[in-house]
Amino acid sequence: MYALIAWATTGVALVVMAVLAWVLLRYRGRPDSVLPPQTRGHTGLEIAWTVVPALVLLMIAVPTIRVIFTTQGSAPPGALGITVRAWQWWWEFRYPSLGIVTANEMHVPAGRPIRLRLEGPDVIHSFWVPQLGGKRDVVPGRINYLTFTPDAPGEYLGQCAEFCGTSHANMRLRVMVDAPGAFESWVARQHASPLEPTEGRAAEGKAVFRRNACVGCHTIAGISEGRLAPDLSHFGSRSTFAGASFQATVDNVAAWLENPSALKPGAKMPALPLTKNEADALAAYLLSLK
Ligand code: CUA
Repeated sequence: MYALIAWATTGVALVVMAVLAWVLLRYRGRPDSVLPPQTRGHTGLEIAWTVVPALVLLMIAVPTIRVIFTTQGSAPPGALGITVRAWQWWWEFRYPSLGIVTANEMHVPAGRPIRLRLEGPDVIHSFWVPQLGGKRDVVPGRINYLTFTPDAPGEYLGQCAEFCGTSHANMRLRVMVDAPGAFESWVARQHASPLEPTEGRAAEGKAVFRRNACVGCHTIAGISEGRLAPDLSHFGSRSTFAGASFQATVDNVAAWLENPSALKPGAKMPALPLTKNEADALAAYLLSLK
């Protein structure tokens, strides 16, 4: 699609620029120049510059519409269904057939068709992972679909592509296309209950989590049920956080916990009244949730 559109528009640009260059040279002003012959109401020309652009647009429109219907169409047999929910400013991925909920980093197996169901709980966003089959808007009150088959394992970067507020630019995502075996072990890890820290910083952090407002918005399996913010049950299995914008290190997570808006302007998560010590412990706990 991109190649076709690029060639067609390059052709148009070359023709237009060539004619323009010819006119500029041929009819440039000279001391003795007279007004060149004027043409008005030339039926042949009028028809030509209506029909030719229409044909060019048709050439682009037919395959475009075909691709839109293919990627929006019903799920191919054996497709893995994933519900994508776009929030200000992070991505939620739910795997109804696998009972997995995660955020910002979506894992998919290579070679299997994927069918995304796009839901918008707040404002309009747009799901866009350039290398994986296009861009599709996520619209509140409407369900859109995007179907593609990733064929090469790797990490693919994505970005929200519809302005959605202060941190639109920080609303990134990553798609991990895993070899089928690696995908199976990711699934197994997500199914396992999060590790129970019994001592040290992580255990301290767990207590901090329980007694703060965290529990109101976040889910950690067996501890809290919150649906407004990313599920943290396996936070430590992700390499990034906060709209896939920051590496998940103790320092970054602790800085985030102390003042989310400093990292992601406008972040919906409030700055909790945590001491530096508590923030470090909570970061250690979250990162231990593999
Ligand atoms: Cu979400 Cu821009």
